[in-house]
Formats: sequence, C-alpha cells, structure tokens
Amino acid sequence: MKLAAASFAAVLAASATVAAELDPVESLGKSLFFDADLSVNGNQSCSSCHEPAQGFSSPMSEINAAGSVIEGSVPGRFGNRKPPTMAYASFSPVLSHIIDDGDVTFVGGAFLDGRATGGKLGMPIADQAQGPFLNPAEMAMPSSACVVYRVLHPEDPSKFPVTLADVWGKDVADVTFPEGIDEACKNPDAKIEIPEGEMADRIETAFGRIALSIAAFEQSQEVNRFSSRYDKWTRGEATLTEEELAGLKVFEAEDKGNCAACHVLTPNTQGGPAVLTDWTFDNLGVPKNRDNPFYQQAANTAGKDWFDPGLGGYLETDPVFAPYAKANMARQQVPTLRNLTKRTSADTAKGFMHNGYFKTLEGIVSFYNTRDVRPACADPIASEAEAMAQKCWPAPEYAETMNKDELGNLKMTAEEEADLVAFLKTFDDE
Ligand code: HEC
Ligand code: HEC
Repeated sequence: MKLAAASFAAVLAASATVAAELDPVESLGKSLFFDADLSVNGNQSCSSCHEPAQGFSSPMSEINAAGSVIEGSVPGRFGNRKPPTMAYASFSPVLSHIIDDGDVTFVGGAFLDGRATGGKLGMPIADQAQGPFLNPAEMAMPSSACVVYRVLHPEDPSKFPVTLADVWGKDVADVTFPEGIDEACKNPDAKIEIPEGEMADRIETAFGRIALSIAAFEQSQEVNRFSSRYDKWTRGEATLTEEELAGLKVFEAEDKGNCAACHVLTPNTQGGPAVLTDWTFDNLGVPKNRDNPFYQQAANTAGKDWFDPGLGGYLETDPVFAPYAKANMARQQVPTLRNLTKRTSADTAKGFMHNGYFKTLEGIVSFYNTRDVRPACADPIASEAEAMAQKCWPAPEYAETMNKDELGNLKMTAEEEADLVAFLKTFDDE
C-alpha cells in the first residue's frame, strides 16, 4: 500500500540518536527479557529467540537454515512461525482499520497477524509480551501466576538489580500465592486455579506491569539504535557507495523495486527515522517451507495442506471483524528491514519471511522480481536454493489473496537486483 511519498527532508530533520543508559523500568525489562527462569523448564528466555547480536532474531543457525521455527521450553513442542526481529516493533501503532473507497485496510498491532492489538495494555508490544510466557509451544508456563511468582521470588535475587517493586511501588509485590505453587509451576500442564477476587486481580496487575517493563526495554535506545550506515548517511555522518545509492533508487522507484510502497522511507509513527514498514499486511505468495516442524505437530489438523492464516486467522476470531477474514487470509504484517543481515558470527544462517523459506537477500529480491515470470518448479516444495538453481518458483503457500499488483514481474536487471541487495545491507545497526 502506498501511504505517502518518501519525505527525505523530514528524515534529515529527525534528530540524531545518542546511546543512553537504561532507566530503571528499561533495566528491569531487560532483566526479564534475558531471564530463562521465566520458562517452565528454566531453559528459555525471550532472548533465546530474539538474540541482540543476531538483530534480535533467532541465533540457532542450523534451525534457521531449515525449518526456522524454534522448539519451545518443553521438548518436542513447536509453533509455526519464524521468530521475527523484535527490534523496532515498538513503533507499531494499536491495531486499527482505515476505510477508503469501500476497501478496509488493517494497520498496526504486534505479531505477524496483528493479534496483539494493544487493546489490553495500551501498546501492541506490551500485549505481545504476555504471550510467549503462556504459549505452550514457547515458554509454556501453566499460568500467569507462575510468571508473577518467579519474578517476585527469584532463586537468585541478584539477577534483578531493579525489582518490580522498585519501579511500580511495593504494593505490586503484595501478592499471596496458592499453596504449592512452586512445584505446580514446574509442570506445563498444571491446572492452577486462582479464585476470582483480590488475589487474581493482584496477579493480573503484576503480570501487566511485567509486560509493560519488557515493553519499556523494547522501546529503549539499546534496542532501537538507529545507528546503521543508512541512518548515518541521512544525518550526513557517512557516505553510501555508488552501488548502494543505485539500490536506493531501485528501492524507491515505483516502476522498479517499488519496495518503499510498503517498506516506507518516511518518518516513523513517532516522527523519527524510517522503520521501513507501514504496518499494513500483505500476502506475497511466499512458498511453503517444507522443513517447518509444524507440519508434523499434533496441533496441525490440516497436514501438508496447512497454510499460515496470518491476519485473516486473527480476524476470524473477532465477531466484529470476522467478515473481513477471508480477504485478509494469509496476509502477514510488513516487517522492518532493519538488521536483516546482522549475525552472531559471519556463518550463522538466517531465515526470512513468516516461515523462514528464504535464507538469502538475493533469493528474496529475485523472487519479488520474477515470481510471476519464472515457471513453476517441478517439485512443489523445492527449497530456495533449488528454485534459484533451476530458475523456477514453487507455488505460493496460499494463492487466493496473493498481491499481484505490486510485485512478481518488476523487470529489474541483474545489476539492479545486486544494487538493491547492497542497499538492504546498509540498514544493519552498528
Ligand atoms: C520459542 C521462541 C520465542 C520465544 C521464547 C519468544 N519469542 Fe517472540 N516471537 C517468536 C515468534 C515465532 C514470533 C512471531 C509469532 C507470531 O507472529 O505469531 C515472535 C514475535 C515477537 C514479537 C512481535 C514482532 C512483530 O514484528 O510483531 C515481539 C515484540 C516478541 N516476539 C517479543 C518477545 C518477548 C518479549 C518474549 C519473551 C516474553 C519472546 N518474544 C519470546 C518466537 C519467540
Ligand atoms: C506490497 C507490500 C510490499 C512490497 C511492495 C515489498 N514488500 Fe517486502 N515484505 C512485505 C511483507 C508483507 C513481508 C512479509 C511477508 C511474509 O512474511 O510472508 C515482506 C518481507 C520482506 C523481507 C523479509 C524480512 C524478514 O525479516 O523476514 C525482505 C528482505 C523484504 N520484504 C524486502 C523487500 C524488497 C527489497 C522489496 C522491493 C523489491 C519489497 N520488500 C517490497 C511487503 C512488501
């Protein structure tokens, strides 16, 4: 979707960012983000799937190179999506819809399907942060009471230099827990009954503040650095090579890459430098990732026909928006393009797109350029490497809502593709 022409002057006007120390709430959020004790088996933290040195996505090279979905705290349990970067996600507005000429466009929210709307805690990333703790395929805690219990009663108190009570007042720690909660919280399938009333309310409040603290860390300059070469170039502090500048032109030109139609170069929702997404949703026709472990999970009742329902899957669950589900089926949120190639080490693999089908920027750019030009691969589940070698593309994971207007036959030359790839690499934070 085209929202507005890139306003380069406004980007230039945005003030330079300076690395700052974390304030107390951000510091608490950081401790929570790195705390593996907040998973049922004490073996997984948020950072396990969102490692800073890997651009806040998964650092597990072998998995990224294949199915791209990370096993949860409980062995054998897998979700169905690749961990996206969580950096810059804090700029996504509360999920809303715009009605224009009878068309309804959804914008904002967190998660690829927008289901962390921000309607609960006022901020999509805060609503989001409550999800992984309780997701059986992620940190798998049996109850929010367990998360609150382990934050208030850590085995090693020194891991919280700033505590929940320091930030939110001592009342937040005034919670009585049911008998035997310590043991119960070690069992992902435990039924922990908290009767409605004051105890439940206090747990809910504390769980909200835990999420808001994590959200504060996610909004901090330690996470959103705006320190890439692209940023420095907009501030006149660095130069881009001729190839990168040519890539920028391809990125912006409506009759070439047209990338900026969705990965906007305009100021972000708070007025600062571009975050490279307009927070809308689209189905690019990305092929199936045959190695996605979800195909083998009991929770998948569709077998090999399963497709990721994206925004449509979420809308289906909302009585007001269910009528729009069909048109938005398999649409995923436009991601930021920052830190695409940031890695823990030079040979750590990365997976791209919701299912990690793509492993290289070259493959992605070639796909945007030739999706509708190259023949269908003989093997409908060919990998990216196979498709690139055979100059074909497998069928989309879900065809019906695929965007045929803005990509698929961009008529870019090989040189323009290479320029574009070079330009995309200027967005890695330094
Ligand atoms: C097992 C791996 C795993 C763990 C652990 C995990 N995440 Fe994620 N994260 C994911 C996946 C996969 C997605 C995309 C899921 C979706 O869209 O449904 C995601 C999405 C996100 C997003 C949304 C990004 C966006 O663009 O909308 C944020 C923010 C985030 N995670 C933060 C966290 C926080 C905070 C924690 C800890 C409380 C956490 N994650 C724990 C895998 C993980
Ligand atoms: C119509 C909107 C739209 C346009 C135009 C567009 N993109 Fe995207 N882009 C998306 C969406 C939506 C996704 C996520 C799709 C998914 O996960 O299935 C995405 C994902 C990506 C990713 C993967 C990011 C990640 O972390 O997984 C890259 C890289 C990318 N786009 C680059 C580009 C380039 C380069 C262009 C121009 C040639 C471009 N995009 C044009 C909407 C768009």
